[in-house]
This record gives sequence, structure tokens and C-alpha cells, in this order.
Amino acid sequence: MALAGGKHFQPATDARRLQAISAESYNFLQQWIHRESGIVIDKDKSYLLHSRLAPILERENLASLETLCGRLRGGAPQVARQVVEAMTTNETLFFRDAAPFDALRHHIVPQLLAKRKGQKLAFWSAAASSGQEAYSLAMLLLDLGLKSHEVDIFGSDLSDEVLRKAELGLYGRFEVSRGLPPEYLARYFDCRGAEWQVKECVRRMVRFQHLDLRSNIRVHGPFDVILCRNVLIYFDAETKVRILTELRRTLLPGGFLLLGAAETANELVKGFKRVVFGQAVAYQAS
Ligand SMILES: C[S@@+](CC[C@H](N)C(=O)[O-])C[C@H]1O[C@@H](n2cnc3c(N)ncnc32)[C@H](O)[C@@H]1O
Repeated sequence: MALAGGKHFQPATDARRLQAISAESYNFLQQWIHRESGIVIDKDKSYLLHSRLAPILERENLASLETLCGRLRGGAPQVARQVVEAMTTNETLFFRDAAPFDALRHHIVPQLLAKRKGQKLAFWSAAASSGQEAYSLAMLLLDLGLKSHEVDIFGSDLSDEVLRKAELGLYGRFEVSRGLPPEYLARYFDCRGAEWQVKECVRRMVRFQHLDLRSNIRVHGPFDVILCRNVLIYFDAETKVRILTELRRTLLPGGFLLLGAAETANELVKGFKRVVFGQAVAYQAS
């Protein structure tokens, strides 16, 4: 699938963003981004490269995307990091797509609690972005009466920028108005001037870490529940299968994988049973 816009379009501060990019440089960037992040940039998306990468040209005082390619070819880790950051789409919100959270609340967590009496439950928000998904989970678990020492929530992402925000748990007015029930804002957040910070007792339930989903993820876990939502859409079929296979291996038997609304696993990977809970689809490790 094509990479969606997502990040704010930066008005051009000069004409560099609009310059055409040669086919060779376009191919180079496509392949470089794929190698470094797994993200697939379709053909004819030069507007996307321009709009995402123009701020880097500004910051690094580079004349054009061609110059940027030259820097990437030469190594330049500082520029490379910025390009990966710029190409990730970090759109997220609290309790995104209510259905999986309803499934967790009414079916999955009660089922796991009944089965794993007294044992800590382990959750993984595998493309955590700025943390809203992991904190939604933490608040939901507290709501269900679980204590912080009874759960372990791991949040990971490729982007360090969003992880820094996730760790702070500090959100603007717009962000807390998206998906977060007002009673949760009152109960689980502290007001910090114009922003809201997730209370320390909730933040303590979640640990965040930089992690490329294409790396050796088997060293993490095992988990009872993995949320890997709205990230597989950016990868090619082979990468998806590889990641889903590894996710399956990090799940405990009977554990659940939740994907984004537009993503599926069953036809791609063995070892999952498709289970429907109301409006949500979960994949249970057999
Ligand atoms: C659209 S957000 C999804 C956030 C959240 N899961 C949700 O559904 O609201 C996708 C996230 O995947 C991350 N990502 C992209 N490529 C990745 C990779 N290779 N490994 C880990 N995370 C990646 C991006 O940095 C981004 O924060």
C-alpha cells in the first residue's frame, strides 16, 4: 500500500522542494527507505518524498533531493536518521477503532485472567507511535481492576522522536480530545499548563523501547496480547509474513494478536486462529 500523507505538509520556504528528482535518485531513495525501515514507497510518489524530506533540506542546508541522496550514499548517519524519522507515519489516537478495546475489555482480558490465575499479564504495543495505544491499554486494565504490578506493557517503535513523546506521556488539547473519554482524562491525567500528562502511576506501567519490527523480535516476550496495528500496511507481502511469523513466536499459546482494521493475518501465517469478538477480529495463537 502507498504511504499515506500523515505528516504535516510543510509550505515550501524556497523552490527546492519542487525540483524534479531524477529516476535514478527516486529509485535510490525508494530502495534506501525500504532497506532502512521496511516502508514501501510506490512509484509516482515524488510529491511525498518532496513534502516529507523538504524540512531536512532546510535544516541541513542541502540544495536538493539529489544532494540528499549524495549524503545518504556517503553514510551520514545524522541525515540518515532524519530521513527514517520523516518517512514514518505516526498517526495515532487514544482507543483508536473502539472495537479491539471493547474486545479486550469484555472478552480477551477476562479470558486470560481466568486462565492465568495470579500470573502477570504481558502486553506489547508493537508500533506504539507516541504512546496513545499503550496508555489506552494501561487505563483499560486499571479500569478492569488490575493493579500495575499485575501487568507488563511494552511499547516499541522505529521512531525515536515519537518514543520520546511516549515516554513523557505529555499530550496537547487536540490529542486528548481524540478518542479519550472525558472521565479518563479526569482520572488518569494531570493538567500541565496547556498540556496533559499521563499520571505517573500509569506511565510506570509502560516501558518504551526503540525496536525495528524486522529485527530479532523473538528476544522479547512471551506476550499474552500483541497489538500490531496500522504498521504492516506500509510493508511488502514478504516482510509482513516474516513479521507475523515472528510475532506468532513471541505469543504465548492461547495469546492474541490484534491488527489494524485494514490488516489481516490468517491467509498469510499458520498458527493463528481467527476469532471474532463483536466488531473486532483477533488472531489467537494455537
Ligand atoms: C500509523 S502508526 C500506528 C500507531 C498505533 N499502532 C495505532 O494504530 O494508532 C505506525 C507506526 O509504525 C512505526 N514503524 C514504521 N516502520 C516500522 C518498523 N520497521 N519497525 C517498527 N515500527 C515501525 C512508525 O514509526 C509509526 O509510529
